[in-house]
Amino acid sequence: MNDVHGKEQPRYEQAGTAMTCRSYAEYAAMFDLVEDSAALQGPVLDVAGGASSFTAQLCDAGVDAVAADPRYALPPEQMLREAEEEIRTSTAKLEAVQEHFEWSYYGTLQHHERMRQESLKRFIRHYRFAARTEVYLPASLPNLPFADNRFALVVCSHFLFLYGDPFTVEFHEQALRELIRVCRSGGEVHVYPLISLPHFHAYPGLDELLERLLQDEVEVSRVRSRLPFILGSETQLVLRKKAGSDIR
Ligand SMILES: C[S@@+](CC[C@H](N)C(=O)[O-])C[C@H]1O[C@@H](n2cnc3c(N)ncnc32)[C@H](O)[C@@H]1O
Repeated sequence: MNDVHGKEQPRYEQAGTAMTCRSYAEYAAMFDLVEDSAALQGPVLDVAGGASSFTAQLCDAGVDAVAADPRYALPPEQMLREAEEEIRTSTAKLEAVQEHFEWSYYGTLQHHERMRQESLKRFIRHYRFAARTEVYLPASLPNLPFADNRFALVVCSHFLFLYGDPFTVEFHEQALRELIRVCRSGGEVHVYPLISLPHFHAYPGLDELLERLLQDEVEVSRVRSRLPFILGSETQLVLRKKAGSDIR
C-alpha cells in the first residue's frame, strides 16, 4: 500500500504501549498551545503522560499541573531504564522508515533523539525530586482519580487512537467521556494524533465515535497541529466543554 506521496506505506511495529518522553516544546506545537493562553495558566492535566517533560516544565513555571499514567506506579530507576530503552528502539525503528516522515520540525533523526534524551532528563529530575505522589498519579483510562470539572486544559498525546488491541472503540468512547468529565466548562481537551499503528492510518470510525459524545456538552473540532512529522496526521482533536456544562 502507498502513502499520500505514492511511496510504499511505512510499517511501525509496536507490541504494547511504548513509554515515550516528548518535551514541552513538542506538546506546545502538537496541541498548538499559545504560551500565555488562559488554558496554560492551569490547572493542566496530561493523561498518558509517560516520561514527557511537559508537566515538569509547567510545574517549574509555577503552573498547577499534574499527569496521569499507569506507569507512575514505577520507581524512577525503572522509568528511566524503560524510557532510555524506548529512545533506543524507537530511533532504530524510525531510521528504517525515515523517508516517510516530514523532518522540518526535528531536522534530523539525531536531533530527534537528542530532544528525547533532554526531555527524559528533565522528566526524571522532576519525577525523582518533586512531590511525586501529588504530581504524577498512577491511573489508567477510562478511570481517572480526579474530581469533576477540575482542569482548564486536558491533553493526551500518543495514546488514544494510536494503539489497536486491546483498546476497543467502546474504550475510546469511555476514555473521551472521562477526559471531558474532569475538564471544566470553558476548558479544552486536546488529543493527538488521530491515527493508528502500524500503518499510520486514520482511526477508523472516529466520526461515528465523536457523534456519540454529548454534543450539547462539548463542541467538537479538528484543529491544525503545528507538529508536522507523521504524514497525513496534521490535525488534533479539540473538545471544548461548553460554558454552563459543569457536572454537578
Ligand atoms: C507513547 S506513550 C506517550 C507518552 C507521552 N504522552 C508522550 O507523548 O511522549 C503512551 C503512554 O500511555 C500510557 N498508558 C497505557 N495504558 C494507559 C491507560 N489505560 N490510560 C492512560 N495511559 C495509559 C503508557 O504507560 C505510556 O506511558
